[in-house]
Amino acid sequence: MESLNLTAKIRVYTFDEGAECIKKLINEAKLAAKNAYAPYSGFRVGAAVLLCNGEIITGNNQENAAYPSGLCAERVALFAANAQRPDIAVEAIAIAGFHDGEFTGLPCRPCGGCRQVMVETENRYDKPVKVIMYGKSKIYEAGSAKDLLPLGFEKGSLPE
Ligand code: THU
Repeated sequence: MESLNLTAKIRVYTFDEGAECIKKLINEAKLAAKNAYAPYSGFRVGAAVLLCNGEIITGNNQENAAYPSGLCAERVALFAANAQRPDIAVEAIAIAGFHDGEFTGLPCRPCGGCRQVMVETENRYDKPVKVIMYGKSKIYEAGSAKDLLPLGFEKGSLPE
């Protein structure tokens, strides 16, 4: 029987070790987390999207009493970027999570639905999106959203 071996390379580093442009993007994500509307979970997430022209567009999670009507920070930021700058490719997204008065120690990882939207963004602009997951003790960085969603459902998966 044949089998597939799926691997992904994730860079691991601390904030201090990060490049200046990465630190700037993370700081924007952290700022955005402060403005999240998360009265139900108490978990504030901020996301900062870096566009190819250097512009940064941020978002945060928006919860709702009818839980499924809320939206994650990454999708708020990506949809805003795609809506405001439809012709400019996305280069990277940084994510930071804040709970109980502090940012998480471990990297804040995107949920499956947000990974799906990141992959769509990659395909839309034919460019990998770097995913930077911030944590106080370490940062994870994937070179492409597809590394976080192997064998995902994409345009090519739809019947002709
Ligand atoms: N959340 C995000 O904003 N991004 C993720 O990738 C995971 C979870 C939000 C959704 C909800 O408002 C809260 O965190 C708790 O799940």
